Order: sequence, then C-alpha cells, then structure tokens
Amino acid sequence: MTSADSSGTLSNLLLLGRGSDAGSERGVSCEGDLPTPADPELRERARAAKATLGSRVMILGHHYQRNEVIEFADITGDSFKLAQAAASHPEAEYVVFCGVHFMAESADILVGDHQKVILPDLAAGCSMADMASASQVDTAWRKFEELSITSSTIPITYMNSTAAIKAFTGKNGGTVCTSSNAERAMRWAFERGERVFFLPDQHLGRNTALLKLGLKASDCVIWNPWKKNGGLTDEEIVSAKVILWRGHCSVHGRFSVDTITDFRARLPEVKILVHPECKNEVVSAADLVGSTEFIIKTIEEAPSGSVWAVGTELNLVKRLAETFPDKTVHFLDKTVCYCSTMNRIDLPHLVYTLESLVAGRVINQITVEAEAAKQAKVALERMLALP
Ligand code: 13P
Ligand code: SF4
Repeated sequence: MTSADSSGTLSNLLLLGRGSDAGSERGVSCEGDLPTPADPELRERARAAKATLGSRVMILGHHYQRNEVIEFADITGDSFKLAQAAASHPEAEYVVFCGVHFMAESADILVGDHQKVILPDLAAGCSMADMASASQVDTAWRKFEELSITSSTIPITYMNSTAAIKAFTGKNGGTVCTSSNAERAMRWAFERGERVFFLPDQHLGRNTALLKLGLKASDCVIWNPWKKNGGLTDEEIVSAKVILWRGHCSVHGRFSVDTITDFRARLPEVKILVHPECKNEVVSAADLVGSTEFIIKTIEEAPSGSVWAVGTELNLVKRLAETFPDKTVHFLDKTVCYCSTMNRIDLPHLVYTLESLVAGRVINQITVEAEAAKQAKVALERMLALP
C-alpha cells in the first residue's frame, strides 16, 4: 500500500479516497464528493435513491459489511452465495457490490454483458488477494514446468484472489473455491491430478487438506514467492501432495490458541466457532469451523442460553450477538479486529453510488479485461458446478 522513495522513506501512503496504487489488487482510489457521515439524512437519501432505481439495481452485501450497509442489501451472503446471486439475476442493470474488490471482479465475470458491477469504494481491496501477483504465480508455474509436474498438478485458487489468478487457474485445468466448498474443490482436484497447487491462503488450504481430506502435515509444502525456488528443493516440490501459497488473512491470523484456552478457563460451557482462514492450531482447538454462512447458521440453530466465542470478522460477530440476544456471542479476540478494507464501504459511499446512478452516472465500475475474464470464468463456472 506504500512505496519507498529514493531516500528510503515511505511515500505515497494511499489515504482513504485519494491517490492510487497500481501495484495492489484494489488499484485505484475513489473519486468524487462523498456526503459527510454526519449527514442525518443519509439513510433517507439511500432509501430514496434505491426506490427511484427500483429493480434496475441489486445491492449485494457480504456478511462482513457494516450494519448501516447491510440494511440496504437485497441479498446478504458469504462470497459463494454472492457469486451465485450475481450469476442468477440478469434483470438487474446495476449490481452494487458491498464487499471487496475480488468479489466485485468475480461478479463482473459472472454477470451478463448488459449488467454493470459497481464497488462503492474502489479502495476496498483485500490484503490476502494482494499476496499472489500474476507474475509471481507464473514464476512458480514455470518452475513446475521445468520439473515436468504441471500435467499432474491441479491449481485451486481461493475466491480471495485477483481475476488474473483466477484466469491462470482456469487456463491450467483448475477451479476456484470458497471457504464453503474448499473440501469439494480439493477432492475434485485429486480426482484429476496427483498434486494440488492451492493459493493464495495457506491456512484454508492446509486446514482443508489435513482436517477434511486426512492428509498429513508432511504432505504439504509452502511456496514462498519471495524466495528463490519458493524456498523449496526440487525434491520437496515433486513429492508434495499440496503446494500451499504463502498467503494469509491478517484479520483471521490474529486469533490464537491462548485466547481459546482463556475462554475455556473462564467459561467452561463455551463453544468455539471459527472461520477456516484461521491458523491450523486455532482451527484444531475449536469446536466448529466453517464459512461465514455456516457460522451464521450454527448460531441461528444453537439452543437458547448457549455460549459462543466466534473467530471471524467483528462486524459479523457483533451482528450475531445483536440478532440472537437469547444466546451469548463473544468475539474470540481481546482486541478490536475489523477487516479495514471491508469497512471502507460505508453509508456515505453507498449513498454516493446510488445517487450517482439516479443522476445517470455510473461510478466505480469494475470491469475485468475480456481475455482474463474468459479464462477466469472457466474456473468460476467449475466451482459453481462442483457436486
Ligand atoms: P467467506 O467465503 O466465508 O465469505 O469469506 C470471505 C472472506 O473474505 C473471509 O475473510
Ligand atoms: Fe481479505 Fe481477510 Fe478482509 Fe477477508 S477478512 S476480505 S481475506 S483481508
């Protein structure tokens, strides 16, 4: 998000709504005059603009979005459900995606040519997606070519990746997955090859391989894009069953076994529920693990009076606690832990987006370049067709 100038100091810090960083996944900034968050009319303005647009607009809201945004979403969901929603609503001329950049890119690939996908703040990227660049992945694949293992290696990319990485995956016989279908994706891949190249989230890849497919830790190696040969010997690469990209989510990376131990000591009846982007030791120490949609369903169906500590993004955990007051829902971390990029989409950005559409201006449109979109669509459609 920053770059070093010739004197070695950090410059070009990308301030909210200003400047651009072509080297990162989100790429560009949000332009225009946003309404002030203090405007008491904001909710009314959002309601009025949405009503004027009627069925021409569909607002999708990821579960990590703020309440003030979720209030206006036509469909809320995890990244899988929202990809399905984008693919199955051809009647909406505008799809306003309240989530992060890679989700909006995927939506743009899946919608029809007559539809436009809009991200209310173009600075809403994802640090995990930024951890795998197309050229780094290309370097790794060229190494696999040199070792003659590409025909037996199936790439799987997590939804949290750029369109370029999804295109690489589609082109090379692989599929996209999300946290709700990673197990199915990995089983699908092992029916087609001997080895999986999983990117960019090492934790989801490892948790799926070890806890769902019963592989051993020694079956997995980590490809570090910053090291020569990924930091691996040729023998390690060839004999691996799963090559994990060295990427992670900085939000889910915060949850620890120590906090789980503390919770269990203080509240013996507590159940620990975490997202599979958490580290393997955290997921192994938890009672339940699953995507955001699974987390919601679990709390919804839990008996009254049950006590939970949930390891995922704070907007969602707070909403669960508010929505189900007959259950006790704690956040599984001692410090505040929002996803800062998800949080960039707020009511002022949503109002600005909707009012611009009412005025006939399409702002912050996400368009994936045609060739990349074609290849990425192959990988996304393979995911949507997984059994
Ligand atoms: P879901 O696939 O559960 O929606 O998670 C997306 C995400 O970004 C989690 O950090
Ligand atoms: Fe990316 Fe993590 Fe935020 Fe999800 S929670 S969007 S993986 S930074």
